[in-house]
Amino acid sequence: IKPDPAVIVIFGASGDLTARKVVPALYNLFLDDYLPAQYSIVGVSRTPFNDDEFRTHLRSGVEKFSRRGTPKEKEWSAFAGNVHYLQAEYNDPSLYQKLLELDETSWSTPPNLIFYLATPPNLFPEIISQLGNFDLLRGDSRYRIVIEKPFGHDLKSAQKLNQELTQVFREHQIYRIDHYLGKETVQNILAFRFGNAVWEPIWNRNFIDHIQITVAEQIGIGRRGGYYESAGALRDMMQNHLLQLLCFMAMEPPTSFDADEIRNKKVDVMHAIRLISREEVPRFAVRGQYGGGLVEGESVPSYRAETGVRASSNTETFAALKLFIDNWRWQGVPFYLRTGKRMPARVSEISLQFRPVPHHPFSHLNTQLFQPNRLVIQIEPNEGIVLRTLAKEPGLGMKLKQVDMQYCYHDVFKTPSPDAYETLLVDILRDDPGLFMRADQVEAAWRVLDPILEVWRSNQELNFPNYQPGQWGPPEAEHLIAQDRRTWLPPVCAELKRG
Ligand code: BG6
Repeated sequence: IKPDPAVIVIFGASGDLTARKVVPALYNLFLDDYLPAQYSIVGVSRTPFNDDEFRTHLRSGVEKFSRRGTPKEKEWSAFAGNVHYLQAEYNDPSLYQKLLELDETSWSTPPNLIFYLATPPNLFPEIISQLGNFDLLRGDSRYRIVIEKPFGHDLKSAQKLNQELTQVFREHQIYRIDHYLGKETVQNILAFRFGNAVWEPIWNRNFIDHIQITVAEQIGIGRRGGYYESAGALRDMMQNHLLQLLCFMAMEPPTSFDADEIRNKKVDVMHAIRLISREEVPRFAVRGQYGGGLVEGESVPSYRAETGVRASSNTETFAALKLFIDNWRWQGVPFYLRTGKRMPARVSEISLQFRPVPHHPFSHLNTQLFQPNRLVIQIEPNEGIVLRTLAKEPGLGMKLKQVDMQYCYHDVFKTPSPDAYETLLVDILRDDPGLFMRADQVEAAWRVLDPILEVWRSNQELNFPNYQPGQWGPPEAEHLIAQDRRTWLPPVCAELKRG
């Protein structure tokens, strides 16, 4: 179904996010016929562009960042004809007057008016409060606001931002993006868990020994030093993406696919996460920072030598956590989470390690070598699911071998997956907030991380850098899990690559 007519206003229109993600996604939606029959896209920023210059700027973004590459002339012109630009200061009330006039179209139905804040977060309060001067926004779901993380930098600032937002908009009008929720493989966790009867009976403490979530990147911080310095891995990745993955894995079965039903079930998990006391932080949380070195034969700088980073910076580029969920399903099952830059591979994977068999009848074999079953959800790359099992190796006598039962998106679904932003933008246009972060989810996530942030802030005596590019973080990350007599499981995708 085509969404209703819409005017999409993008604040921060000359910035990176607009060029890399938002407009390439909108263009792909246009090509696939998912945009409304009547729409316009209005870019707002301080950069002096006229309409044509703005369109040319966006076109080069689409060329570079769209999965489809260089746009065809005819198609691009048809899309770009609906793109306009307004140069303005964000604190200028006349800008907002003009934006509200966009509401008055000659279209058959009054449009939805979507305000997309693709600006740095320090501009959110000004824009939100200016929009607040228009009482008509309040409560009417024709008017929606989209914001991108960071949603604050701790619980207190997140609460403040939520207050600012809810003074102007009602919760159902607010779309907080966590782009991981738009990924096909992340949504597939719900399909996999709740569309099949075989998993639910074993998806609990009786069968699962522990769960590991790894989101590793090979890249360093690139040109984002300015932002990253005030964030670090815990705020940049753990507060949002990894905790959301944890919620998908740990949530109770929803009774429907209704937006609030799913989000309620997820926030229940967040509330059940056992808070780490300040004294426990060293045993439950590890941080690291990459040094310089070689990546695939090329020399790369240490984090402290990156542009925009202080030479004495103690910002973490790696974080690992051990969390427990205090409820019936998960009591006593540790969740180990780790994320970092300059890791050995780009890989996002979730592993469920099942308990070992209670008794091995193959006593004549070296059963020490046998790993318990492991279910791996490969978020990316090599999107798919792997169930690691033991099988009899063909031949005389009984010899066991580890084999994978596996499905890869690539083989099963021949069509490429949409980009996360395409999925999320369609949901915004259709007014379906299920894949977006609600205020209470954001705050609950900060509540989990606040004690760690506090302890880390007060203890700055660190021997950073403490890991080299191409390592899985500092040695302390190994200790975090080794103290429980477990090890980080090598990502399946890295094994396949070595192959
Ligand atoms: C962003 C972080 O939210 O996610 C980045 O700010 C990170 O630091 C990115 O690189 C990773 O996203 P993806 O989709 O490439 O895994």
